[in-house]
Amino acid sequence: MAKQRIDNPGNPHFYPWPLILVSSIDEHGKPNIITIGASSVCCARPWVIGFAMGVHQYSYELIKRTGDFGVNIPHREQLAGSDYCGRVSGRSTNKFEDLGWTPQPSEIIESPLIEECPVSIECEIVEIAHLGNHDWVMGEAKLAWIDEEILSGRRIDYAKTDPVWSFFGEYWSLGEKIADWGGAH
Ligand SMILES: Cc1cc2nc3c(=O)[nH]c(=O)nc-3n(C[C@H](O)[C@H](O)[C@H](O)COP(=O)(O)O)c2cc1C
Repeated sequence: MAKQRIDNPGNPHFYPWPLILVSSIDEHGKPNIITIGASSVCCARPWVIGFAMGVHQYSYELIKRTGDFGVNIPHREQLAGSDYCGRVSGRSTNKFEDLGWTPQPSEIIESPLIEECPVSIECEIVEIAHLGNHDWVMGEAKLAWIDEEILSGRRIDYAKTDPVWSFFGEYWSLGEKIADWGGAH
């Protein structure tokens, strides 16, 4: 394989990650949504989810006040809305109202969830890594709300989902299952 040497590598040199919508709320009860392309599971026990938050984002102010956030995984039907939430700031509008989406009250955290998303997870911030123009925000997932239609027992059947993956200016779909762990040849 002929590999090209890349100096100063960056986002164009990585693969897509699942798109998530991080939900939050201000001190007056106005909910907000930020679209996040860079997110990942950080730890299995406790289950910790992390994501890259631009240090000047309005949503960052909101989640620092409450100490929590909602992680919502959109389906492709919510792609246009997800794109919108990534282009407009909650400083100047109510994105839930703009999209006709419903804030789903959380059970444990103050931030609401997004009713329309098939997966919503209540997270409490446990650690923030200060890295540069983005911080990596890590939240312990306390409670998950998952559409019964995509569940197979206790786990998500990805064949029944239609998530969006994104990185560096493009949206991609998941594709198909190609093997089980330990079963790749
Ligand atoms: C596909 C996509 C992915 C994005 N990923 C991130 C991200 O990982 N981190 C981030 O801070 N902003 C990201 N953004 C930008 C924010 O979503 C955008 O600045 C948003 O308007 C901020 O909303 P707020 O001002 O209501 O907090 C992304 C935008 C899009 C469209």
